[in-house]
Order: sequence, then C-alpha cells, then structure tokens
Amino acid sequence: MTDAELVQHARIAAANAYAPYSKFHVGAAALLRDGRVITGVNVENASYPLGVCAERCALARAVAEGVRPGEVEAVAITASPCGGCRQWFHEFGVDRVVFLHEGELLARRPDELLPDSFVL
Ligand code: THU
Repeated sequence: MTDAELVQHARIAAANAYAPYSKFHVGAAALLRDGRVITGVNVENASYPLGVCAERCALARAVAEGVRPGEVEAVAITASPCGGCRQWFHEFGVDRVVFLHEGELLARRPDELLPDSFVL
C-alpha cells in the first residue's frame, strides 16, 4: 500500500471522529506488517483532557487485536501528530509516520519526530 493510499484510509476514518468540542476531526490509519489496516479517530470528552487522539485510538485498537510493538509498519494521520502521540510511535517502533503538514505529505521516522526520546 502506498503512503497516499494509507492517508486516504485516514481521511475516510476522520468522518467518524467524535469531536463535538473542538470540531476538529482527525483520522488515522495504522498499516500492519501483515497488510491489515486499522483506523482510529479522535474521541473527545466533556472533561477535555480525557479525549483520545486519532493515532492513539488506532494503535490501541491494534493492540486489542493482539498487535505488539514492531508489528506496525506505518501510521498515517490527517494532521500533524502531537507530542504525546510521537512518544507512542517510538513505543511501537513504527517505520514511518505519514501526515499532511502545510499541504505537503510528509513521511518521518519516529526519531525524527521526537529525538532523544524517553525509554525505560
Ligand atoms: N488530535 C488528534 O487526534 N491527534 C493529534 O495528534 C493532534 C490532536 C485531536 C485531539 C482533539 O480532539 C483535537 O485534535 C483538537 O486538538
């Protein structure tokens, strides 16, 4: 699957975002090494900090299906990923993160998005 196709999955998913507070719909799509695509959306909450980002939603859904770090090839997002999600990309060892930034489709490694990141 091309990065452009993966972003298209994220775009389609964004229509299901639950974002009544920010009205900012985000979609994500995780491409697994076995070829499966698992999507996610941002899910907001009246208690604002409890909201979940689209890419973390996608990765959490993948984990629920038994996926573990090292098994995710790429994650595409319809927005530039926040700092917390960048830490998640490290944890999952994804090869690349694909996202639209200022009209341009970028593909970055997690260490480019968050250098010298926290590890246990
Ligand atoms: N959001 C994401 O889903 N992913 C990000 O990486 C950036 C922010 C969501 C969270 C919130 O629901 C909305 O975008 C506005 O911040």
